[in-house]
Amino acid sequence: MPKVLVATVKPFAARAVEGIQKIVKAAGYEFALLEKYADQKDFISAVKDVDALIIRSDKATREVMDHAPGLKIIVRAGAGYDNIDLQAATEKGIVVMNTPGQNSNAVAELALGMMVYLARNQFNGKPGTELRGKTLGIQAYGHVGSLVAGIARGFGMELYAYDPFIPKEVIEKDGVSALDSVEELYETCQYVSLHIPANEHTVKSVNYALLSRMPQNAVLVNTARKEVIHEGDLLKVFAERPDFKYISDIAPDCAGEIAEKYEGRFFFTPKKMGAQTAEANINAGLAAANQIVKFFENGDRTFQVNK
Ligand code: 3PG
Repeated sequence: MPKVLVATVKPFAARAVEGIQKIVKAAGYEFALLEKYADQKDFISAVKDVDALIIRSDKATREVMDHAPGLKIIVRAGAGYDNIDLQAATEKGIVVMNTPGQNSNAVAELALGMMVYLARNQFNGKPGTELRGKTLGIQAYGHVGSLVAGIARGFGMELYAYDPFIPKEVIEKDGVSALDSVEELYETCQYVSLHIPANEHTVKSVNYALLSRMPQNAVLVNTARKEVIHEGDLLKVFAERPDFKYISDIAPDCAGEIAEKYEGRFFFTPKKMGAQTAEANINAGLAAANQIVKFFENGDRTFQVNK
């Protein structure tokens, strides 16, 4: 009987956990839960007899896998799997999956929510600005990027996107102008919203060369990963351009310096909040549990990311 462990530093909504447990038990598997663990050591000691893991941004390192000799599958209930050592998993024959699209709407709503919050001066009583008629550049037009476009269209924003992996027709059928280069996106758009994963091609890729191209009253919106920003360059742009603002779902490492020097020009969530809705937790959590059952029952590997 396979044992499935849900290990989440940042717990799912209770209804998501109940749903996962129901699916796991209905399949006749054992269910275990480790939430809000204080130390990575607690995670490591909880995996020794598990066959399957459901995690969020929890760090599935080689060390974790070394301590889980029976582990066959890890499902990241969410999109980004930069928290999983894919090479170690592949070497050990562990299948890694994500649940693409399941929490995207929550992230897209947060991106627009943060934009409104900043445009209204964080509700400090002073007149702000509106989003209607402003240019929005969507960097990467996947699940979240396309949902951002849909919501932003409702606000009456002028929409642009850059994604080298998505055919232009797919982007343009949504009424979004597909641009030919990332440089053009930053040059054209007052708001740029990031929806790129963190990987060897994207880490530190949002740099001075891009940010310094942005038009007057530029706002960078990051609901992706803090690692994609070149923080040295970000600080340089903050210093050179009093009109530049940055909003991010999770603070950059240089948040202290930004807070000290650039009041009113930033907003950072205290914890990564993009996918933190009951709906997103239920969608992603239940999808993860169902994927595990299908994997054990039929060998289904749809959504495997370490092929
Ligand atoms: C994701 O990659 O799915 C999002 O960043 C959400 O991450 P979380 O599940 O850790 O909140």
